[in-house]
Amino acid sequence: MIALATEVPPGDVERLRAQFPALCRRVNGHLLAYLDNAASAQQPAAVIDAIADYSRNHHSNVHRGVHTLSQEATALYEGARGKVRGFINAASEREIIFVRGTTEAINLVANTLGRTRLQPGDEIVISWLEHHANIVPWQLLCEQTGARLRVVPIDRRGVVDFDAYRALLGPRTKIVSLAHVSNALGTVLPIGEFIAEARDRGIATVVDGAQAVPHQRIDVQALGCDFYAFSGHKMYGPTGIGVLYGREAVLATLPPWQGGGDMILTVSFERTTYNSLPWRFEAGTPNIAGAVGLGAAIDWLAEVGMERIAAHEAELLAYATARLLTIPGLTIIGTAPDKASLVSFTVDGIHPHDLGTVLDAEGVAVRTGHHCAMPVMEFFDLPATARTSFALYNTRAEIEQLHAALTRAIGMLR
Ligand code: ALA
Repeated sequence: MIALATEVPPGDVERLRAQFPALCRRVNGHLLAYLDNAASAQQPAAVIDAIADYSRNHHSNVHRGVHTLSQEATALYEGARGKVRGFINAASEREIIFVRGTTEAINLVANTLGRTRLQPGDEIVISWLEHHANIVPWQLLCEQTGARLRVVPIDRRGVVDFDAYRALLGPRTKIVSLAHVSNALGTVLPIGEFIAEARDRGIATVVDGAQAVPHQRIDVQALGCDFYAFSGHKMYGPTGIGVLYGREAVLATLPPWQGGGDMILTVSFERTTYNSLPWRFEAGTPNIAGAVGLGAAIDWLAEVGMERIAAHEAELLAYATARLLTIPGLTIIGTAPDKASLVSFTVDGIHPHDLGTVLDAEGVAVRTGHHCAMPVMEFFDLPATARTSFALYNTRAEIEQLHAALTRAIGMLR
């Protein structure tokens, strides 16, 4: 019998797993080992039920009706905002903007802060390990404003060079935008230190927290960043909902981004006035069911406990790393000392897509490809990696299933 991770008693993990309907299914005749959580985590019944209850009983538009259903929908939607505020310890609900996800959040910042603050020759600093969502919006902004993108190098472990970062910050630097955790390598940045350096110089700070929020407690006030972005579907919530946290003092100075209903106070052909925070940045009917689901995910995470999740996942990471390294020809890509619970790897002579396909035939779900981080692949001179990423419900038994399936796949593909 294979032991489960020690920090969470086995009964606990099994109890947690049982709350996730998708984890109970079989795939290609095998028990599903879902190890693609960095792409999207599964949803517990509490989240699925909250969305269903909203859709069955309370669905209406928000902020627009005096009738009961509209009032209920508004209370649920704004209640979810309150839960997000508490979850990341923002100072006020005015600082919580619902968006489609991390990508939209970063685009919002680029199109408001970026468009109004940048002059030709100004600089935006990112790092080499960023997801495309934290590269392309800034490139578009550079094209529109004449600003320049500066990139902090990483080393062969996937650690962002802090000294090089400090050296890049100068009088022309207006925005620093960094991942808290790399989705392709797992590197955890000491993001507070990066933020502090920028803040000391009066530079605006943006954090892509998509891969951090599901794994550790986030306190945006302690971090001191101006913006922090994350997605619901990586933290056991639904897709199509995410959050942009913005420090109120900064948000209050920004122009609106998208125009439409709900973001205005008054409209006439001569002059339009805008709504207060946070609704000024939420044009049109929002994803109400998504916000309700995200709120339920936050309640659920609070019940499980972020510290407990972090401890369990750290144990899984150590176990998986040790087990994968026993496979001849397997190389782990991303060996930073501080890593989130994911392992990217290659196997000599086998394309990751072929590996992923054979693993799927054995019920093991991993992601293969460039992970929306093509500069990382270029840095390591690779077309792609296979990536296994863990969540609070994964077990050592699943890592053994991965190990066995990999061993068989390699035997078959070589
Ligand atoms: N950004 C997601 C991932 O890393 C989709 O897989």
